[in-house]
Amino acid sequence: MPKRIQAIKGTQDVLPPYGDTLRTLENTLLSIAHNYGYSEIRTPVFEPTELFSRGMGGTTDVVQKEMYTFEDKGGRSITLRPEGTAGVVRALLEHGLFNEPMPQKLSYITSCYRYEKPQAGRYREFHQFGVECFGASGPAVDAELIALAAGIFRTLGLTALRLELNSIGCPSCRPAYHAALKKYFAARQDELCPACLERLERNPLRILDCKSPVCAAIAEDAPIGLDYLCGACAEHFDGLKSTLDALEMAYSVNPRIVRGLDYYTKTVFEFVTDTIGAQGTVCGGGRYDGLVTELGGNALPALGFGLGLERLELVLRASGKKTPLPPPCTLYIVPIGEDALCKAAALCEKLRTKGIHAQFDVVGRSVKAQMKYAGKIGALYTAVLGTDDLSAGTVAVKRMADGETQAIALADFVEAFYAKILGCFNHF
Ligand code: HAM
Repeated sequence: MPKRIQAIKGTQDVLPPYGDTLRTLENTLLSIAHNYGYSEIRTPVFEPTELFSRGMGGTTDVVQKEMYTFEDKGGRSITLRPEGTAGVVRALLEHGLFNEPMPQKLSYITSCYRYEKPQAGRYREFHQFGVECFGASGPAVDAELIALAAGIFRTLGLTALRLELNSIGCPSCRPAYHAALKKYFAARQDELCPACLERLERNPLRILDCKSPVCAAIAEDAPIGLDYLCGACAEHFDGLKSTLDALEMAYSVNPRIVRGLDYYTKTVFEFVTDTIGAQGTVCGGGRYDGLVTELGGNALPALGFGLGLERLELVLRASGKKTPLPPPCTLYIVPIGEDALCKAAALCEKLRTKGIHAQFDVVGRSVKAQMKYAGKIGALYTAVLGTDDLSAGTVAVKRMADGETQAIALADFVEAFYAKILGCFNHF
C-alpha cells in the first residue's frame, strides 16, 4: 500500500461536526460586526511579499522569521498572508474605496500563515476574524471598535477575558521614546540576542516583544511609551479611556503592550486570558494611522483588530461553553423497499427546497439500523415509509423526543408536514 500523507505540522483539519460549529460561530461574529456597520471583504491568500515587508515592518519577527515566502513561476516574490490588515489596505487603495463615504468599515474571516513553533493556541495555519475601519480619527471610534470585540465575547458568554490598553504614540512623539529606549538598551547591549542588536539600531521598540527570556527580562525595566506621548496622543488616549468609562467597559492600562507589528500608532489593545496557556492573547489590534500612506495612499486614519478563531475556540472550551451547532436533521425518512426509496428521495428533495433539513437512507441499512442512525444524527422526527403507506397515501411521522406520531398525507406532504408538525410543535 502506498505511504499515507500526513497534514503539515502546525496545520489542522476541521472535522464534522466542528466544521458546522465553526461556520455558526463565524456567522455570529460577522453578524455582530454587521450591527456595528461592518461589511465583509475577501482578499487573496497570497500577495506580493513587499506588501507585508513594507506594511508590517522589516524588523518584526513576522517579517524576519515567520513568513511563507516563495518565488512563483514568473519569478515574483509571493507571500502567504501572515495577517489580514495589509491585504485589506491594498484592496482599499486598489479599488478606490477611500472615495466612498467615510468611515469605511470592513470585516473578514481569513486564514493566515506564520512559520512559528507550533504549540497549543499557536499554529502555522490559523484563522482570524478581523475588522478594519478607515476614515475616523477621534477616540470614539477606538472605543466603538473595542466595544465590538467585547460585544462578541459577551454574546458568546465569555467572561474570562480582560481588556488591556496602551498608547504607543505617533511619528511626532515616537522619536523621543525611541531615543530613550536606545539609550536604555545600549547600556546592556552585551546581553541582547543578535536579532535585538540589529533592532537596537533599526527599531528599538521591537526589542520589547522579543521572545528571548534574557531580552524579555531586560525589557521589564525599559522606559514606558506613555511617559513620552505628545499632547495630541495623550489627549486621544484620555478620550478613549473616558469613552470606555461611559460605555461601562472594564480595562486596565498595560504600558508593556506594544504589539508585534510596526504599523500601530496611538491606541493598542489586547483581550487576554489565563485560561488557555501561554498563548493567551485572543484578540489584538489598534490604530494604524500611517499604514495607508506607507502603502502608497493619501493619509487616512485607520484602526482594527484581529481575533484568532482557534484561540477563541480554546477559550470557549475552557469556559465550558458549547459553541452553537446548526439545527439538526428535522426529518429522517426510513424507506422499506425500492418504491419507498424513490418516494423518500422525492419527499426529501421537496422538503429541502422549502429549507427543511431532511435525510433518508442511502446505504441500504435495515430498518432497525436506520432508526439507530436517525437517533445518532439527532433527527427530530422520523417516518418509516413502507409499501402499505404508499398504498394508503399516508405515513406516520414520529417525534423522536416522546414517540408521539401524526399521520401525514403523502399527496401534499410538505404542506401538511409544515402545518401539522412544524406549525404545532415547539420542535427545537
Ligand atoms: P496579531 O496580534 O498578530 O495581529 O494577531 C491577531 C490574533 O491572531 C492574535 O491575538 C491571535 O489570537 C491570533 N494569532 C496570531 N498568531 C497566531 C498563531 N500563530 N496561531 C494561532 N493564532 C494566532 C494581527 O494580525 C493584526 N492584523 C490585527 C489587526 C487588525 N490590527 C489592526 N487591524
